[in-house]
Amino acid sequence: MIRYIEDPEERKHISREILESLTEWFEIEENRERYIKESAGQPFWAAFEEEKPAGFLCLKETGKETMELAVMGVRKDQHRNGIGRKLFAAAKEYATLKGYSFIQVKTVRSGMYEDYDRTNEFYKSVGFKELEVLEDYWDEANPCQIYVMSLKSATGVINTRHSYRGKYSSDPVPESDLRIIATAGLNAPSGCNKQTTDLVVVNDKAVLDKIKGLIDPPVAATAPAMIVVLSRRINAYRDKCFATQDYSAAIENMLLAIVELGYQSCWYEGHITDDDRICDKIAEVLGVPGEYGVVCILPVGKALDEIKLPVKKAFEERVSFNRFGDK
Ligand SMILES: Cc1cc2nc3c(=O)[nH]c(=O)nc-3n(C[C@H](O)[C@H](O)[C@H](O)COP(=O)(O)O)c2cc1C
Repeated sequence: MIRYIEDPEERKHISREILESLTEWFEIEENRERYIKESAGQPFWAAFEEEKPAGFLCLKETGKETMELAVMGVRKDQHRNGIGRKLFAAAKEYATLKGYSFIQVKTVRSGMYEDYDRTNEFYKSVGFKELEVLEDYWDEANPCQIYVMSLKSATGVINTRHSYRGKYSSDPVPESDLRIIATAGLNAPSGCNKQTTDLVVVNDKAVLDKIKGLIDPPVAATAPAMIVVLSRRINAYRDKCFATQDYSAAIENMLLAIVELGYQSCWYEGHITDDDRICDKIAEVLGVPGEYGVVCILPVGKALDEIKLPVKKAFEERVSFNRFGDK
């Protein structure tokens, strides 16, 4: 029922039909015509009810990191049917997957007109937060409320993280950032809260060089910092040990924190745990006690090269709803 519209003429046609039916909100013809004209060149979604447009939403880039919900409208007889939410969900998914950090929207602030009060409630209900009111952005009778929403929530970061295997800048990573990353690892879930994962943060050049010298063929050779992941076996119950799941969750949390802070990394496990047991040599350099195994290294640093995106199978190939194979 929600469709992304590509054709500029169809965009204008739909936005005209909807906006001309919503004169309480889009009263001034000049503004309405501007919205219609601009909608032709903007990412645009429409909702259909029995093939008839029931609403639309379009986005506008207002900065490298920010998308604005430029305009949205839902036919009055379709209000309170969840159409606005569905349109917004589609637009938010798009902006998130494109890597934007924020989405903003402007409206007349609450307490002025009943219709706009409902608009404000709608924006808050989908997760927008009040940023600022600009009293004279439009005019005295229409104070402008700006709402904002961060897209670099967990899902935003998840969808932009990828394994980085290029060169790193030599800029040191501040210890405070390394602490934030390590804390994200410690805050991961662990089976029966046994917390079987420990970390060694390496930011001393001499130690880092010793570790890099052990890795053959070399990886992360230019990284200015590294997190070495240690795991030990503690049974959660009976003979059940979740150490592998525990450190995997910790690693993913740290990878997400690394990307959120503007760095890159790669989960190097296969490379150091193969038959040549580089992991054991790293453990020796770091003085790791025998009950722990070094299971992974995570370089941390600013990327100098392009991030290469891996090929992932199509969503439909791997996800079913309610029954395996049902799309
Ligand atoms: C358990 C595990 C071990 C991995 N070991 C290595 C490794 O040794 N070397 C490497 O380059 N990448 C390694 N990776 C990264 C994967 O190759 C990478 O996640 C995968 O190709 C998908 O790409 P993406 O991370 O960019 O989505 C490992 C990932 C996992 C989960």
